[in-house]
Amino acid sequence: MQRLHVLITGFLLVNSFCGFAQMSFDARIDSIVAIMSLREKIGQTALRGTSSRVKGTLPEELKQAVREGKVGAFLNVMNTDYVDELQRLATEESPHGIPLIFARDVIHGFRTIFPIPLGIAASWDPEVARACGRISAIEASSVGIRWTFAPMLDIARDSRWGRIAESPGEDPYLASLLAKGYVEGFHGNSLKDPTSMVTCAKHLIGYGAAIGGRDYNTAIIHEPLLRNLYVPPFTAAIKAGAPTVMSSFNEINGLPASGNKFLLTGLLRGELHFDGFVVSDWNSVTEMIDHGFARDEKHAAELAANAGLDMEMTSKAYEDHIESLIEEGSLSEDQIDFYVKNILKVKFRMGLFERPYRDKDTEKRFYLPDHLQKAKEAAIKSSVLLKNEQLLPLKKGTKIALIGPLANAPREQLGTWTFDGEADQSITPFKAFNEQSPEVLFSPGLTFSRDRSKEGFDEALRLAQKSDVILFVGGEEAILSGEAHSRADIGLPGAQESLIEKLALLGKPIILVIMAGRPIAISRIIDKVDAVLMCWHPGSMGGPALYDMIYGKSEPGGRLPVSWPKTAGQCPIFYNHKNTGRPADSTSFVHIDEIPVGAWQSSLGNNSHYLDAGFSPHFPFGYGLGYSDYAYSKLSLSHKELAMNEALTVTVSVTNTGTRNGEEVVQLYVQDVVGSITRPVRELKRFRKISLDQGETKKVSFRLSSKDLEFMNHQLEKRAEPGLFRVWVGPNSSSGLQNSFSLKEN
Ligand code: BGC
Repeated sequence: MQRLHVLITGFLLVNSFCGFAQMSFDARIDSIVAIMSLREKIGQTALRGTSSRVKGTLPEELKQAVREGKVGAFLNVMNTDYVDELQRLATEESPHGIPLIFARDVIHGFRTIFPIPLGIAASWDPEVARACGRISAIEASSVGIRWTFAPMLDIARDSRWGRIAESPGEDPYLASLLAKGYVEGFHGNSLKDPTSMVTCAKHLIGYGAAIGGRDYNTAIIHEPLLRNLYVPPFTAAIKAGAPTVMSSFNEINGLPASGNKFLLTGLLRGELHFDGFVVSDWNSVTEMIDHGFARDEKHAAELAANAGLDMEMTSKAYEDHIESLIEEGSLSEDQIDFYVKNILKVKFRMGLFERPYRDKDTEKRFYLPDHLQKAKEAAIKSSVLLKNEQLLPLKKGTKIALIGPLANAPREQLGTWTFDGEADQSITPFKAFNEQSPEVLFSPGLTFSRDRSKEGFDEALRLAQKSDVILFVGGEEAILSGEAHSRADIGLPGAQESLIEKLALLGKPIILVIMAGRPIAISRIIDKVDAVLMCWHPGSMGGPALYDMIYGKSEPGGRLPVSWPKTAGQCPIFYNHKNTGRPADSTSFVHIDEIPVGAWQSSLGNNSHYLDAGFSPHFPFGYGLGYSDYAYSKLSLSHKELAMNEALTVTVSVTNTGTRNGEEVVQLYVQDVVGSITRPVRELKRFRKISLDQGETKKVSFRLSSKDLEFMNHQLEKRAEPGLFRVWVGPNSSSGLQNSFSLKEN
């Protein structure tokens, strides 16, 4: 009887109490929390999930849990009838009618799949991230999913790490711009809009610093580096309005993120002023037992709840132990109230109290022409041309032999984290070329990327012999990157190199197109091919995008968002490294083959490099060719001296010296030559994509202020330090025109 009373009161209170809707969010939230039982409060902190592959009927037990207010949000409920039914139970039958949030990993598309996030990062274009976010949200919200576990903002410096595929790359400035683009795109005009998806900035933090690139591994990051490298994309996402953040699986400096008060309370709420809620990663609360940080589940709940973790994903430590922790005095109920209020605030901001149900008018808005067009543009803008011996673009009518295990692999080109992508809607290179140029010859040679069988070689060679140009589409299947899919050897898997070597013997020009979730070490075969085009996993429209690029209707627009290693042995490798006391340089470099046999032990002639692989990557961060050439000239600075809180203008002239119109990404880097902590050899501070007609020259100006030169020092003070700064403007992180200025104390 009493429950019924509470139920009716709650329902009335939330949905129709006179004047309730006029109260401020905070007052409404306070009034709800004041009448919730502790069990119901704990319920709000529970994110229940199922594996995305589980189908079947809604278990009665689950329905009952919702009726009793024991669940705050769901993950991976993909049946719209279940979404509606669960929401009905929550809003109409649970004690206080609090709506549920339905979540899903909608990372780079829902049905229409965009390139993997590392590919989107290669576009160097926040508008691509925004379009990906917007279209993903329109499609996913149409089946009731309103919370995405994206954007993933883990800076990644190691191509062995499988999740580099999901990352925004190695640079904090580029990653921050992308973070803003994603957040604004997923959110749309208002979180209340039924096509809006709430973002979750993940994974806080240092997940990409896993030792040796082994997923889930330990991260050791000193505090200034944490602030200077890993935090900025999260700051940008929070500034752009991301209402949720996910704590990462890893430990950082000995403390697992989900029980880390320094991170979840000090950094996130204190420094970054985050006022949404933090969700754990999948079971990351109870995994603190395996970390050797929590004794048991109860201890894990105590650590996480006292650290600042609002919502627990999938494991049930909060559900099973919070009541007794409060009874024993190891946790205060106020802390739980704080979490519930944070969660309700987001539900209010999403408009779920007024409009809990999905919008049936926008049901199943998949694959709209505009979505496919944007996905195709994204695939073009993110493709990076790494080598081109005057081969591309091809002339119409060139007879192509399409070879390779990814030339017709519709599921694989979608890439990692695409549970909702559909292979039959994915247009492969074979499909696109065959439709538009039916004379194309096709024989994959290998049936999948790891295939070691040479059975298909003869047929592939026979067809290749008849062609003018060989287009080899290889790389990695989707499953070889992403979560838990790190690799120690990052070369082309299977017998791909061997097939390329055989094809090269035919003497025909070869274009190597790579579809992969990470940079692939290609040192052994790059000399056998005439052009290399990195398409990452390009998504649903990979085929048509490739067709347009190969025939020059479009130009590959990407620039590398990560340094491209020659070999996995160079990892981690990143452009914004420190100089060291014995910096590597080409004049003193001694190659392993140059060391005399029986040489006396000496460090002379050697510095911070590998005897065999040298010190530079195969391709530097920021690198990428277009179909035209560009010359940089007249780098000038408005001031040679800059006062604190002032700005200067850096100007450069860029000329299209090639034979067609095109686009160039003009990049500005600085080096703070002497610092109270040592500073990177270069840091990206600005870039701009410009289009230039053949023969055209444009002046490009960048404004740089002393604020842009700030960094966190050992005292954890963020400031710019006076002294000499070098500036480069050019086409990538290892070239460009150089100038310098001094920053003066006022
Ligand atoms: C991943 C998260 C993801 C979560 C939910 C975890 O395994 O690390 O990135 O959001 O699963 O699917």
